[in-house]
Amino acid sequence: MAQAISSIHRLWTSKTDALEAQALSDAAVFDTFPDPILMLDGEGNLIGSNLAAKQFLGANIVSTNIAHLFSTNIFISSIEKVLKGSSDSERVVFHTPEHGNRQLFAHITKLPHQTKNRAVAVISLYDVSRAISLEKMQSDFVANASHELRTPLSVISGFIETLQTTARDDADARDAFLGIMKEQSEYMATLIEDLLSLSRLEMGQDKELKDKVDLHEVMDDIMQALKIKAFQHSVNVKINQLNRIPKIVGDNQQIHQILQNLLDNAIKYAPENSEVNIEIKAVPEIPAKPGQNVALGRAVSIAFNNKGQKINKEDLARLTEKFYRMQIHKDMKIKGTGLGLAIAKQIVLHHRGNLTVSSTAYRGNTFTVYLPVKQ
Ligand SMILES: Nc1ncnc2c1ncn2[C@@H]1O[C@H](COP(=O)(O)OP(=O)(O)OP(=O)(O)O)[C@@H](O)[C@H]1O
Ligand SMILES: [Mg+2]
Repeated sequence: MAQAISSIHRLWTSKTDALEAQALSDAAVFDTFPDPILMLDGEGNLIGSNLAAKQFLGANIVSTNIAHLFSTNIFISSIEKVLKGSSDSERVVFHTPEHGNRQLFAHITKLPHQTKNRAVAVISLYDVSRAISLEKMQSDFVANASHELRTPLSVISGFIETLQTTARDDADARDAFLGIMKEQSEYMATLIEDLLSLSRLEMGQDKELKDKVDLHEVMDDIMQALKIKAFQHSVNVKINQLNRIPKIVGDNQQIHQILQNLLDNAIKYAPENSEVNIEIKAVPEIPAKPGQNVALGRAVSIAFNNKGQKINKEDLARLTEKFYRMQIHKDMKIKGTGLGLAIAKQIVLHHRGNLTVSSTAYRGNTFTVYLPVKQ
């Protein structure tokens, strides 16, 4: 009898150990899933969750009713449908204002049979905020690009029609219209060039950075290129070099482009008869906000300052968005596509440098690029 009991006990112990090991390994597997998984009983109380769910919703969520964790009606009513048995599974995309206003995709499934600890449904959550905002950015981009191209195109075709009809024999009108058409087609060419340059930058982020770039040469080149523009705007450009500038490792053509875009802006948005000041200096490191991926070690900073109205906070936050232009400059009919700073930002990211903007009523606007000496 004693032998029989002891062998039954051994059998049970080994079975319990095996089951415990199985349960632990099941839980470990669930914990490796990067997305939250929740198990509910028939009343909607949480009876199990994986590590990602605890990180997302907090550690003490067990036994909490799902309606206390989420308030979005569409999500809660989909869960009710599954719990009441009127649906076997539901899929829903919803906002969670209580969890950082994320957009989540939820898959709610009824379990085929009630498990011992009463789990009735399993919910898996997937954060789709980033995918949705990327999709929106892409469609905004296409909408903006086609709008920007269509405007000059309609001007050109309007003038062609006028030249073919009412202004056919009017030599003065012909000269004036051809001038406008030339200007508009040049604008289209710049726009297409900028768009191509942006998409090349976005696609080819892995382009090797291997040129030894002499910033004195780059500054000389862009000063030469923009001399006439500065003269036409009656703007005086001054360069101030504070210490010895080392050569930097990067892409020569891209660095030309970023500095030319910033000087072009400084001249274009400076009031007439004012001064643009460029300050260039070697600095021990690149200033960065937490989480920003900048190269460590020595760098060169190039700051472009122009006078002008203080830029407000909302505008400041959006200046490097594609096609974003301040209303005041659109009203002043200052030409631009709104792509210059978006291109500059991409190049800076690629070089693991930084671009900062400061604006005060007294000092005006300063756009500073930091480029690391070594990659
Ligand atoms: N130095 C500056 N001073 C004041 N505002 C500026 C300055 N640089 C840029 N901005 C503002 O930021 C907006 C975006 O600049 P960005 O260079 O991207 O485009 P843009 O100059 O309008 O056109 P593009 O450079 O493509 O010809 C400008 O339209 C302008 O409103
Ligand atoms: Mg510009």
